[in-house]
Amino acid sequence: MTLSFEITEDKCTRCGLCGKDCPVKIITLQTGAPRILPANQELCIKCQHCLAVCPNGALSIMGLSPEQSVPVSVNSLPEPNKMEALIKGRRSVRYYHDENLPADTIRKLIDVASYAPTGFNSRSVRFSVIDDKQVLAEFREKAYDSLAKLVSLGHLSETRSGFSRFVDLWQNKREDVLFRGAPHLLITSAPKKSASPVPDCLIALAYFEMFAQSLGVGTVWNGLVKRLVDQLVPSLRMQFGIPEHHIIGYAMGFGRPAIQYSRAVQHPQAEVLRLSI
Ligand SMILES: Cc1cc2nc3c(=O)[nH]c(=O)nc-3n(C[C@H](O)[C@H](O)[C@H](O)COP(=O)(O)O)c2cc1C
Repeated sequence: MTLSFEITEDKCTRCGLCGKDCPVKIITLQTGAPRILPANQELCIKCQHCLAVCPNGALSIMGLSPEQSVPVSVNSLPEPNKMEALIKGRRSVRYYHDENLPADTIRKLIDVASYAPTGFNSRSVRFSVIDDKQVLAEFREKAYDSLAKLVSLGHLSETRSGFSRFVDLWQNKREDVLFRGAPHLLITSAPKKSASPVPDCLIALAYFEMFAQSLGVGTVWNGLVKRLVDQLVPSLRMQFGIPEHHIIGYAMGFGRPAIQYSRAVQHPQAEVLRLSI
């Protein structure tokens, strides 16, 4: 893709901020208006900082016009006490209403989460989602059936404290420890060859989870399902269409919570090591 690095001459004040903020230092102002030499174009990591930082909206890159960007100002940001309440008040939700979230909500959640940072701005995280509770119900049946087979064949090293107990609970009491009754499931994966596939996937899910809360959507990180899909039952991974060259970051259940928490928990102070000279 060509960079299409364009300057609106009468808006550009030659302030140099675009060049200063460019992480790979390829924007030059030596000959007047900012430009990127053709030989340097392939060094661009397409982070769009130049477009974002320009105070006058004078710069367009990759055909993106600054007017289309979400405006950012101090006034448009949540207050710190609200952010703190959001972060400290988040809980893993293990009870959900048996209903689909509106498709628009899921789209919006994934769109916002896709703005999470990625190493070297690779932006290659894939969001594989079950957005229909009926599909999840079928997936869940298949998951428990496959687990039951593995248990009966003695292929799982766990004792009754592990997967075999969860199979029992599902088969006998319809208690869904595996998926925690979530109507939706999200798995993030990224190409193994990208700069930092696992962190990228985890950060995307963390953003997803935070934004979900603000919309009244509950989430639960799901290590059990991650293990199941990633290691124990390859056909489940195939069903998700996760390509061979991808590494799975993590799985997250989500949906409308059927439980509300009245207060945050209280964690002991984190261990902080302060280096001094
Ligand atoms: C990487 C990771 C994997 C997790 N896997 C599961 C899981 O498989 N099932 C589950 O119910 N909770 C899972 N959790 C949720 C944790 O148990 C939970 O975060 C912890 O008990 C603290 O509770 P809180 O999230 O409400 O603060 C996981 C959390 C993380 C961060």
